[in-house]
Amino acid sequence: MDFGMKNRLSRIFNPRTGKTVMLAVDHGYFQGPTTGLRNLGETVSPLVRHTDCLFITRGMARNCIRPESATSICLRVSGGPSILGELSNEDITTSMEEAIRLNASGVGMSIFVGAGNEDRTISNLGRLVDEAERYGIPVLAITAVGKEMGRNTRYLGLACRIAAEIGARFVKTYYCDDFYKVVEGCPVPIVMAGGKKIPEMEALKMTENAIKEGASGVDMGRNIFQSDKPVGMIKAVRAIVHKGASAEEAFEIYSKA
Ligand code: R5P
Repeated sequence: MDFGMKNRLSRIFNPRTGKTVMLAVDHGYFQGPTTGLRNLGETVSPLVRHTDCLFITRGMARNCIRPESATSICLRVSGGPSILGELSNEDITTSMEEAIRLNASGVGMSIFVGAGNEDRTISNLGRLVDEAERYGIPVLAITAVGKEMGRNTRYLGLACRIAAEIGARFVKTYYCDDFYKVVEGCPVPIVMAGGKKIPEMEALKMTENAIKEGASGVDMGRNIFQSDKPVGMIKAVRAIVHKGASAEEAFEIYSKA
């Protein structure tokens, strides 16, 4: 692996633990000013120092994040439809030149396996990988799950494996029962998305299970920034991911914040 690729991956995955706590704040790219991210800068400011890597769009990085921050960024580079449209109708919205200009440590896009435009999103992933690899930039593929798809090992295993086959350096997916089977079938690191806001203890238990079953970290959004104690929650998630804390120990950290 080239120096640049390794260097960027080490800005996402902590070399001491091999894991990552990514904070996902890209939701506005199709949801607009969603709860907790209405003022993205204000939300992210106290969380950023507890974050290994911010998953964010170029517009929000430029306008809401201090460029002096030591936290790396992974750029969401796909988009197109809003929450009112056909979500799988995505294309690449940000160039590689822009990713380099913003000093991104990675770029990420969604694939919509089983949805209307699955073939186009998967071939877009191939093109993005071709271009990003030329500059030593790792690509994160995100397995978007439509309402009609099951969040089960069969579906998520299929989507993650396809992402890895096409060349993603790491994959983001949701937690499901027997998550270890999804991990087993995917040769690149998997980070877990949190999904809709659930009670803190449940989110921490899900994180503990995902890590125990082989996840290489999280790329979590709503269960952190929509929590009543976002700083407590990200510290709790960090303890599980980087220190192997149990959900109960992590809940203590959240409660005391
Ligand atoms: C989807 O909008 C994005 O890819 C999010 O980055 C991803 O779903 C993770 O955020 P959350 O933990 O809120 O699901």
